[in-house]
Amino acid sequence: MPLFDRVPDRHTGNAEKYILRKKLFGTEDVLPMWVADMDIETPECVRDAVLRRAAQPVYGYEEMPESAFEAQMACMKKRHGLTLQREWLRYSHSVVASISTAIMAFTAPGDEVIVQPPIYPPFMKQVVHNNRTLVTNPLQRDGDGDYRFDLDDLKSKITPRTKLLLLCSPHNPVGRVWTRGELEALAALCLEHGIRVFADEIHSDLVYAPHRHVPFASLSDEVRDSTVTAVGPGKTFNVAGLAISTVAIADEAMRVRFDEVYEAIHFAQGMIFGHAGFEAAYREGEAWLDALLVHLAKNAETLESLLQRYDGIDFHPPEGTYLAWLDCRGLGFESDRELRRFFVQKAKLGLSPGISFGREGSGFMRLNFAVPTPVMDEALARLEKALVNL
Ligand SMILES: Cc1ncc(COP(=O)(O)O)c(C=O)c1O
Repeated sequence: MPLFDRVPDRHTGNAEKYILRKKLFGTEDVLPMWVADMDIETPECVRDAVLRRAAQPVYGYEEMPESAFEAQMACMKKRHGLTLQREWLRYSHSVVASISTAIMAFTAPGDEVIVQPPIYPPFMKQVVHNNRTLVTNPLQRDGDGDYRFDLDDLKSKITPRTKLLLLCSPHNPVGRVWTRGELEALAALCLEHGIRVFADEIHSDLVYAPHRHVPFASLSDEVRDSTVTAVGPGKTFNVAGLAISTVAIADEAMRVRFDEVYEAIHFAQGMIFGHAGFEAAYREGEAWLDALLVHLAKNAETLESLLQRYDGIDFHPPEGTYLAWLDCRGLGFESDRELRRFFVQKAKLGLSPGISFGREGSGFMRLNFAVPTPVMDEALARLEKALVNL
């Protein structure tokens, strides 16, 4: 059976997407299309590498192998033209933990950290958890539904205590792949005011032609030297459960500061299966990734063509990510609660409510379309039925 027709059984394990259905949606009778992992088999090369490691009789401490870093560096160079040096890289078990580490390293309690909602919720939460001041610089949405940075708003909010900006590139949930021009304008403003940037580029391999991911740190040497970049195979190769990513910091003084916090927390070196899967994904996973992108683009298109036939939900396929940002304001519900109820009870789909990405997400829902064709067909049929009956 073709890969993207196969439906892996995730009902019997501990998959977060499935076991939290009752808690989040009040019922298990929903197709879960929320948390950002894929209901698609992890590439065989990754599973084989993990199995080979599992067959070795000792599961003791391991260093992250140099060959794994090399495989990632080669892949970043090939796919994004991003040149990384080995000494810039650090292992991380979680991009969100890396965000927190950067907040602790480059800001003091009470300093201001900028985020651009609607945004992946931990961007906001980690600022607050670390007792820093959250400054929101909402993205601007134009009449066509396109999102842009609002640099005038950003300028008006910068103070001497503004120390860090958390950039999501490509952007979860709105699906933008920021252009070089957009990133350059943002970078110029940050450099002018001495604001460092944490560039979360975990979705950077999931970009649809003709769009191209521009690594923030590749804009210029000056930009690179005030940037922390997070990249990893978690989204790209569906290995979030291997808990492995890297952080790249080119500037030595920034690296020393980051390391102080990193050592204090004790990130250590990660786990043996993560090392094996990480290296195999970057070394051997490219053909799988190219096929995946074709499949995901097809899913986004089928969703778009369904929604074009009905009034109420405005959707444009994302430029990057496997997340559909649905503008449901045209459905006419009076509250986000009612909108959510419609999706759970009528469409029987478990989506992420837009409001959880900041108040700018009110009236929106986020649908994860990284599913095999039969699941996508089922999701579309459920959604169509609910829209017909509305
Ligand atoms: C933008 C972004 N950053 C980070 C993460 C999570 O990364 P990790 O599991 O490595 O903490 C996600 C997961 O959805 C994400 O969308």
